[in-house]
Formats: sequence, structure tokens, C-alpha cells
Amino acid sequence: MAQSPIIHWGILGTARIATKVAGAINATAGTHVAAVASRSAERASSWAKEHGIGRSYGNYQALLDDDELDAIYIPLPPSMHAEWTIRAAEAGKHVICEKPIAMNATEAEEMAAACRQNDVQLMDATMWVHHPRSADMLRPINDGTLGEMRRVTAAFGFVIEPYLEKKPPHAAQNSETGQASTEDIIAHELRFQRELGGGSLLDTGWYCARVALWAFGDLPREVFAQARFRHDVDTSLSALMWYDNDRVASFDCGYDLATRKWFEVAGTTGTLVCDDFLAPWNPERPRFWLHETPGEANETISAPEIQEQLMIHNFCEIIRSGQLDEHWPSVSIANQLICDALDKSARTGQIVAI
Ligand SMILES: NC(=O)c1ccc[n+]([C@@H]2O[C@H](COP(=O)([O-])OP(=O)(O)OC[C@H]3O[C@@H](n4cnc5c(N)ncnc54)[C@H](OP(=O)(O)O)[C@@H]3O)[C@@H](O)[C@H]2O)c1
Repeated sequence: MAQSPIIHWGILGTARIATKVAGAINATAGTHVAAVASRSAERASSWAKEHGIGRSYGNYQALLDDDELDAIYIPLPPSMHAEWTIRAAEAGKHVICEKPIAMNATEAEEMAAACRQNDVQLMDATMWVHHPRSADMLRPINDGTLGEMRRVTAAFGFVIEPYLEKKPPHAAQNSETGQASTEDIIAHELRFQRELGGGSLLDTGWYCARVALWAFGDLPREVFAQARFRHDVDTSLSALMWYDNDRVASFDCGYDLATRKWFEVAGTTGTLVCDDFLAPWNPERPRFWLHETPGEANETISAPEIQEQLMIHNFCEIIRSGQLDEHWPSVSIANQLICDALDKSARTGQIVAI
């Protein structure tokens, strides 16, 4: 029997999230991380050693020039996603780019076009959609079990301070204590820098906008948002989105409340609730509830699979098939269009049409 070709990955940047994704790549059959690049050769080399990666590069382009790599994972700040995805596509590499796919939908469209022109696949790293639970939940949403679709409500956020303790790897360290100061951490934390693509909408609201896109299957007509800002960066945001056929979606996201990662999809005869859509609280019991009769909640437990690995597996299968899957870039662009409109609304106080 013919062996499936091994997919060799390169990673751009020694980001915090890259540890999880590198682990998922190496744990997925038929694929492995072959190289990592950093702005600093020293950081690349020590990260490679720590993660058991064979090759390291002291600049990003050198990794893209590595002929043995098939696919690139890009966990850079959002402001760098377009440039490095386009460069990777031009180097003939398939790309998983972290969310948000870009700074705006124009960039996202340019990225998708570059990948199409170079015959390489583009996918953003929204992981929960790859979990088998997402397909299990979509069935009753699409087959009429809930009646006519009317409303999606979602929330995702967390308190940022404990997150900051996982300091960005490049934050300076105090030479005596080996610790980075809080000011230095914040100065290096992309979530607090608008020019890098920071802010809770693109960071956490991205996922909630995706829930509405996933459940309704189309874009809102109009949106409205209000946000709290700190140095021009939204640290929390509430969003309202109006759709054709009497449908509406709303969500809140931010860095100021205990961790919440839930949604409800409501139709005229029932509702579906998931209280941990981003990633199951208990990976062994990925659950959701259907409420069709008042007072009754029917719990479903989906297969306990690992969504990061499924994302990698699904992506590698597209590469092996030789057929680009347009669904992935188009859903990224739609997700970005919603975020663009919400950002504009939050900054102008106006309802924004899409
Ligand atoms: N899918 C998910 O579940 C998930 C979870 C968390 C984050 N994310 C996304 O992943 C991306 C990275 O997030 P993160 O928190 O992991 O980031 P991070 O730890 O701050 O890492 C970003 C990396 O980008 C490189 N970089 C290049 N220029 C930079 C600059 N001017 N400032 C900061 N970093 C720079 C750095 O690598 P070198 O210095 O080594 O070059 C740095 O390690 C974001 O788009 C974020 O939204 C996704």
C-alpha cells in the first residue's frame, strides 16, 4: 500500500501558542515539526532544543527558503500575518495562520489570493471547529430540531493578569532577578498594542463571531458594538449583529471577567447550549445540551478527541489530496469582515452595514 507523504512543518516565531501547536503537529500521524525560526538565532536554537526540533533559523525568510518544508504555521502578531503568509505562499508553502487571520478583510483577501495563485492551502487556526463535537452540534441546528433559527448568543474572555504571567518570551529580564517587570511585559504583550493587532475583539471576539458564522451560515446585514478602551485597545466589547429572516446574534468578549467560553443557539422550538465551545473544560467529556421541552436538558457527550491534532490532520489531508479547499480561506475572510465592522462600530458609535 502506498504510504501517505510525511508533511514537514516550519514554525515562524517562538510564540507561547506555538508550544501547543508544535506538540499537536508532532502527535499527529504523518507529520512533524522540522524547523523553527525566530528574530533571534539564539532563541530559535534554544526553542528548537527544548521542543526536539532539528533545524532552527535566526530569521523568518531563511525558514521559508528551506526546500524541505511543506507547510508553515504562523503564530506571529496579527500585524505580521499578511506579510508572512504571502511570503510563505510565494515560497510554495501551505499555511496555517493564527487567528485573527489578518488586521482587516482586505489583507485577508490578499492572503487568500496569494495562496490560490501559488496553489497552496490557507487555513486560520480556529481550533474548536475541528472538534467532532462541532459537527455533532451543527446537526440539530441544521436539521430543524430547534425550529427556525433566530438567535445566537456567545461569550469568550478571561482575566488577563494571570495570562500575563506567561510572559511573552522576548520580554526583557531583570539581570538580577531573572524576572521581567510588569511594565515591560505589558509593553511587549501584543494584546495591548493596537499596531500589532491587539485588543479583545480580534483576540477573543473573533471566536464568538465565528460561532454566529458557523451556526447561521451567512453574514450579518448590520452590526453595532460598544467597547472599553485602554490606550486605543479594546479591553472588552459587546456586539450586536442583525441578519436576514429575523435572526440576531450577540456576544461579549474581553479581559475583565472570569473565564467564559459558552454559546447558546436558539430556534423557535428549542435551544442548544455549549458552556465550553473554545475547548472542553473536561477533554474526556466534550458536552452540550439540547433543550426542546421546557425543563428538560438532554446532554450529549461527543468523542473525546484533541482539536489541535484534528486541525493539523484535516489540514494535512487537504495537502495530500492535492485539491485546495476554498471553504477555509473564505470563512476566514467572512470572520474578519464581521470583526472589521464591529471594530468600526465600536470606534464610531454607529451601526455599520456589511
Ligand atoms: N488558536 C489559539 O488557540 C490561540 C491561542 C493563543 C494565541 N493565539 C494567536 O496566536 C498569535 C500569537 O499569540 P501568542 O500570545 O502566542 O504570542 P506571543 O507569545 O507574544 O508570540 C508572538 C511571537 O511573534 C514573534 N514576533 C515577531 N515580531 C514581534 C513583535 N513585534 N512583537 C511580539 N512578537 C513578535 C515573536 O517570536 P520571535 O521573537 O521568536 O521571532 C513572538 O514569540 C496571535 O495571533 C494570537 O491571537 C491563538
